[in-house]
Amino acid sequence: TSTSSRASRQRETWTSSTGFILAAIGSAVGLGNIWRFPGVAYENGGGAFLIPYLVALLTAGIPILFLDYAIGHRYRAAAPLALRRIARPAETLGWFQICLSFVIAVYYAAVIAWSLSYFVFSFDLRWGDNTAAFFTGEYLQVGAPEISSTVVPAVAIPLVLVWVAVLVVLVLGVTRGVQRVNVVFIPLLTVTFAALVVRALTLPGASDGLNAFFTPNWSALTDPAVWIAAYSQIFFSLSIAFGIMITYASYQRRKANMTSSGLVVAFANSSFEILAGIGVFATLGFMAQQASTTVDQLEGLTGPTLSFITFPAVISQMPGGNVFGMLFFGCLVLGGFTSIISILLGVAASVQEKFGLGQKAAAVTVSVICAALSLALFSTTSALLALDTVDQWANNIGIVFSAIVMAVLVIWVLRKGPTLLAHLNTVSTFRLGWWWIGLVAVLAPLYLGYMLYERVRTLIV
Ligand code: PFF
Repeated sequence: TSTSSRASRQRETWTSSTGFILAAIGSAVGLGNIWRFPGVAYENGGGAFLIPYLVALLTAGIPILFLDYAIGHRYRAAAPLALRRIARPAETLGWFQICLSFVIAVYYAAVIAWSLSYFVFSFDLRWGDNTAAFFTGEYLQVGAPEISSTVVPAVAIPLVLVWVAVLVVLVLGVTRGVQRVNVVFIPLLTVTFAALVVRALTLPGASDGLNAFFTPNWSALTDPAVWIAAYSQIFFSLSIAFGIMITYASYQRRKANMTSSGLVVAFANSSFEILAGIGVFATLGFMAQQASTTVDQLEGLTGPTLSFITFPAVISQMPGGNVFGMLFFGCLVLGGFTSIISILLGVAASVQEKFGLGQKAAAVTVSVICAALSLALFSTTSALLALDTVDQWANNIGIVFSAIVMAVLVIWVLRKGPTLLAHLNTVSTFRLGWWWIGLVAVLAPLYLGYMLYERVRTLIV
């Protein structure tokens, strides 16, 4: 159509490969690395988890990342239009991916907002002695009979700030907005994160934490749930099959070495993730030592509890805890923000291309709708309870389904394997072979299909 060809003629681009790589790392490194990975690894075999994790990275993570890149870069549009350019009905899959991203953005923003508050609370350790009561009671007001209409819940202010920032970045666009934020935030995040990990490793008791984290439980390797956890973690962490990497790749200049960039992004993401595990468990080792117990006896080592209840308690006991708290919550804010702008860019670009809107109009429309939903849901207390269910369905089931459908549709039904392979190989120095198509179109769908079956079964039973 004329609108879509006009849009692609004027398409913005990242100004360099570094710009693209930093933005893609920004999308990948986020809350998933810092608070999701350490707990998942610990619960699924500790040191032994690194085996399924690396297998998942090499057999599905990187191959599907390349598939996302190939689709976006070859067809030069956000997910729905890119897939529509392959075959009209495939557009539906693109919208499915965009809907998933949208759902994730609604709660992801809330967690960034909590981190922003806690960054500020670190100055004077405002959470006091009972960090659990502070988080759910005083801060989130869970269980309050009703939110009075005259009192603005504490979370509303940081949440509005996050959404205003997202809106401003999207209105500025790909080059002046998204790329610029990542060029500043990713180096800043790296330095902050390095300081955090070094500090954690120098705490008394750190080595006990590392032992608890890395001591392998080999029997975990025979448990299918452990392998499922590894694949889910890789997908969420690399932001693949959400339509987001399709969108990012569509803004890359035509002559670009996509596969080498992909390897850099995947390697950087996993390095952050494993280092986050080391930093978090070193800190927990310190906590266990203070309480004269062992890390295995500690509770609250996953999800929001780890970051917003357990960590504040440790921080209060630490010499220089304020600085540590600012480093930790600062990392969550920086990593989370560079991820949420990728999600919203994917949604906004899709809406822009579908309805022929201007880039700014699409950015404003999408951010305002998502912000309103996020505020409506997360200023009430019941949302916290829904978070887990939504997360389960979107991250584990939705995303695996999306990856299988994409691989089968693009390679088997539409037979685009050779085209995409040739496309990636024209410029890239890391050349792919038929093994890539084999991994994407045979191994991944078989394995992921089994995984999906297991997931749905355990959730329904
Ligand atoms: N990869 C991000 C993280 O690990 O926190 C989360 C994420 C970003 C998921 C973008 C999905 C997405 F499209």
